[in-house]
Amino acid sequence: MRRRLSLLAGVAALGLTLAACGGGGDTPSDNANPSDATGKVGVFTWWADGSEKAGLDALVGVFNKDFPNLTFDNLAVAGGAGSQAKSVLAAQLKAGNPPDSFQAHAGAELQDYIDADQLEDLSGFYKDNDLTSQFPKDLIDRLTVDGKIYSVPSNIHRANVVWANVDVLKKAGVDPEKPATDLAGWFADMDKVKASGKIPLAVAGSWTQVQLFENILLSSLGSDGYNGLWDGKTDWKSAEVTTAIQAYEKALSYTNTDRDSLSDWAPATQLVEDGAAAYNVMGDWAEAKFEQDKKKSGVDYTYFATPGTAGVFDFLADSFTLPKGAPNPAGSKAWLKTISSAEGQTAFNKVKGSIPANTTAKTDDFSEYQKSAIKDFSQDKIVSSLAHGAAVPVAWLNDLSTAVSKFGGDKNVDSLQTSAAAIAAKFAK
Ligand code: GAL
Repeated sequence: MRRRLSLLAGVAALGLTLAACGGGGDTPSDNANPSDATGKVGVFTWWADGSEKAGLDALVGVFNKDFPNLTFDNLAVAGGAGSQAKSVLAAQLKAGNPPDSFQAHAGAELQDYIDADQLEDLSGFYKDNDLTSQFPKDLIDRLTVDGKIYSVPSNIHRANVVWANVDVLKKAGVDPEKPATDLAGWFADMDKVKASGKIPLAVAGSWTQVQLFENILLSSLGSDGYNGLWDGKTDWKSAEVTTAIQAYEKALSYTNTDRDSLSDWAPATQLVEDGAAAYNVMGDWAEAKFEQDKKKSGVDYTYFATPGTAGVFDFLADSFTLPKGAPNPAGSKAWLKTISSAEGQTAFNKVKGSIPANTTAKTDDFSEYQKSAIKDFSQDKIVSSLAHGAAVPVAWLNDLSTAVSKFGGDKNVDSLQTSAAAIAAKFAK
């Protein structure tokens, strides 16, 4: 039976304990020592531009200081959410040409690589660096299979956040400090924005629409109903799901008509930043963009949990791997060492909009939003993001993304529901 731990509903339900983690086996990389490492370290991500590249650059700054004998080789492939990168990476791995380390989402996406036997076990690395106690247990559980840990998390992002333009809301007669608490109230606010002549809801191409769909499912079905979509407990053919898809159709009716031609998340967030649109549902990498563009929270923009999802943290985490057959395993471990360190996590996350995965990292000078996310993560219900590799394997996400994109054109509720049910039946184990 496949051990897709990430799909278990509710983090508290996850059963593996760190005590079960072995001290590493006899893999070729076990003897690779980061302090002896020289040469190039090729790191594959999709953080190719804007605030995402700025985050990577901050991490590389710490890496260069930690390991002056190593040269960072940036193998980034552009396209938010790994929309281009993941297939490029899959081809490289298939051809036996892995990078020294690659970005993978904690949860089901990481499980894909583990199942394909493409990753080295990093349990020994965790032990050598005394890491297990420095990361939240729920996160370690999502990186662990059969007591082995396969990657090092760099951050924790939240996917259920609405970013809003304060001025646009005020001019439409919507109080920016009193966001709606459910979808009906939010749609009523969007009607006011529409009447004021602005775009109510900004969205971009395929994966950002999937993330919007995910948010509406979460709001409409609640956290248990949403979790059940991925572990078979919620029937995709149920009346509740029909209602959720109808709500998604309504949400789409408020969006910019050129959505499919916007290349990535940043142009959609930009519409809010520029005052052309009121709202954008986006992961908190958007916070990094507002900060980078010197926008002031509470004045230029504001944020709140997607209406109907307060108290739920729609979670995703980027993590980094040591692929089997990596050209420079000692260099990979050096990179992983910097990522795991408190200093590396502070430098990276401050610029990336996310919160550190390493709980010993300093966050005193983080933004007000980030401080609120740290608090929410510690007390909210955690669910796994669909669009960002936490909830389902890549193949499931790809098929569902095709169905969601098609819905953007035909708005056929029945067809999306039937396809989503068939996809779930195909992949659910
Ligand atoms: C996510 C990733 C984030 C951010 C976002 C947009 O999948 O985890 O770190 O990069 O995509 O590209």
